Amino acid sequence: MSLLQVTIVGGGMITHDQILPSLYHMQRQGLIGEISICASRGRTLKTLAAAEIWARAFPGQSFRAFPDFSGDLDRRQPELYRQVLAGMPQRNIVVVAVPDPLHFDVILAALENNQHVCAVKPLVLEASQSMRIEQEAFSRGLVVGVEYHKRFDDRSLMARQRYREGLFGAFRLGTACLLEKWYYRHSNFQNWCTTENSDAFSYIGCHYVDLVHFITGLLPVSASVYGIRDRYPNGKEGYLWTDARVIWSNGACLNVQSALGFPDEAPGTNTQGLALYCSDGNQGALLAHSDQYRGLQYCYTRKGETPGATIYAEPSPDYFQYVDLGGKGLAPVGYGYRSLDYIIQACLRVEGAPAGDRQSLLKELDQAGIMATPANSRYNELVLEAGRLSILNGGGEAVIEYGAKPSVRLKKYQAPPPRTENESKAKAKG
Ligand SMILES: NC(=O)c1ccc[n+]([C@@H]2O[C@H](COP(=O)([O-])OP(=O)(O)OC[C@H]3O[C@@H](n4cnc5c(N)ncnc54)[C@H](O)[C@@H]3O)[C@@H](O)[C@H]2O)c1
Repeated sequence: MSLLQVTIVGGGMITHDQILPSLYHMQRQGLIGEISICASRGRTLKTLAAAEIWARAFPGQSFRAFPDFSGDLDRRQPELYRQVLAGMPQRNIVVVAVPDPLHFDVILAALENNQHVCAVKPLVLEASQSMRIEQEAFSRGLVVGVEYHKRFDDRSLMARQRYREGLFGAFRLGTACLLEKWYYRHSNFQNWCTTENSDAFSYIGCHYVDLVHFITGLLPVSASVYGIRDRYPNGKEGYLWTDARVIWSNGACLNVQSALGFPDEAPGTNTQGLALYCSDGNQGALLAHSDQYRGLQYCYTRKGETPGATIYAEPSPDYFQYVDLGGKGLAPVGYGYRSLDYIIQACLRVEGAPAGDRQSLLKELDQAGIMATPANSRYNELVLEAGRLSILNGGGEAVIEYGAKPSVRLKKYQAPPPRTENESKAKAKG
C-alpha cells in the first residue's frame, strides 16, 4: 500500500509552529507521503514556504501549495479547499487548521470526500455539528481526531492515571489560567477572533476545560463567562479578557482566566497553569501544574528575532522544540509533536484495517479517551455554546443538558423569598 498523503487546510500560525514541522518529521520517517497545503491566498503559503526553519530542520522537503504561486498572490479563494479535497484520492488524511468558525464546513467537506480528519481544537462551535460529524465519519469508517495537545503532555497523562487510581479523592475547587502574550493581538486573530465569533475563553480557556475532564472524567454542567471588550490594532473588538466559572457534574467548581494580554516582555511564550483542590472526605489533596514555568531560566546576550522574544526567557522544553539528534536537519520533540503523531497513527491504523473492522476500531478510540473524538469530547462544544451564551448575556449562568439531544440554556433566577417582616412590608409597598 502506498503511503497516505496529507492535506492541511489553513497555512497560519499553528500550521507553521506545530503542524507542518510535525508532518515533515513523519514524512521523513516514512510514515506519510506527499504533503499539500491549501490556504485562501497564495501569499500566505508563499510566506510559509519561505520560513527559514524549513531549510535548517527539513532540508530537501517541501509541500504542494494550493493556490500555487503563479497567479495573483492576494486573490482570495475561500472555496478552493473544496476542489482540492475533491481532487485528493479517497481515504487519505486532511488536517483542518482554519479559523474556528470554518471548522465545520471544512471537516464536512473532507468527510464527504472520504478523508480521515485531524482537526485543531475546537472541533466545532456547536454540539449538533459535532453529532453530524460523528455520524458522517462513523458511517464511512473514518477517524476524526481533535488536536488537544495538552493531553499528550506527560504531566497530564500522569495526573489522569493517578486521579483515576483514586489518589486525589474528588476534585472540589480549582483554578486555571492561560494568558497569551499581548502581541497576539497583531496577528490574523484580529480579523476573526472578534466579539461576534469568539472570545478568550472559547479560544484558549477551552484547553483547561478539556484537561480537567481528561484528568478527572467529570463533565461540565454549567458555565458563566464574564468578558471585557477590548480593541485590536485594526479597530475590531474582541472579548480579550475573560473570567469563567465552570461547574462540574459532582458539584466541583473551576475558575478559568484567559486573555490576550500577558506582557510581551514577560518570560515564557504565555502564562498558564492549573491547581485542583481535591478531597476524599477526610483530608484535602492537591494537583497543581505550572504549565508555563518548566524550570528553565535562560538569559541571553541579545533578543531573538521572533515575535515575543525576550532577553530573559523561560522556554518550555515540553511543548515543541527542535533538537539536533544527528543526521539530516532537526527533529521536532515535545507533546505538540506527539499529539499530531498519535492522531495520524490512529488514521493509519484504521485505514490499514480490513473495512469490516474499522468501526470497532473507531469505538475503541472513543472509549480509550486519550485522543479527543467527536463522540468522547462533545462536552467541549457544549461548554463553548454555554460560554458564548453566557458572555453575550452579561455573564449569566448557562446550563448544559446532556442526553440524546444535548443543549444549553440560560438559567433563570427567581428572587429569594423575603426573610424578615420588614423586607416583606418593603416588598409589598413596591
Ligand atoms: N493550542 C492550540 O491547540 C491552538 C493554537 C493555535 C491555534 N489553534 C487553532 O488553529 C486554528 C487556526 O489558528 P491559527 O493560529 O493558525 O490562525 P491563523 O489566523 O494564523 O491562520 C488561519 C489560516 O486559515 C486560512 N484560511 C482562512 N480561511 C480559509 C479558507 N476559506 N480556505 C483555506 N484556508 C483558509 C488562512 O489563510 C490562514 O492561513 C484555529 O481554529 C485555532 O483555534 C489551536
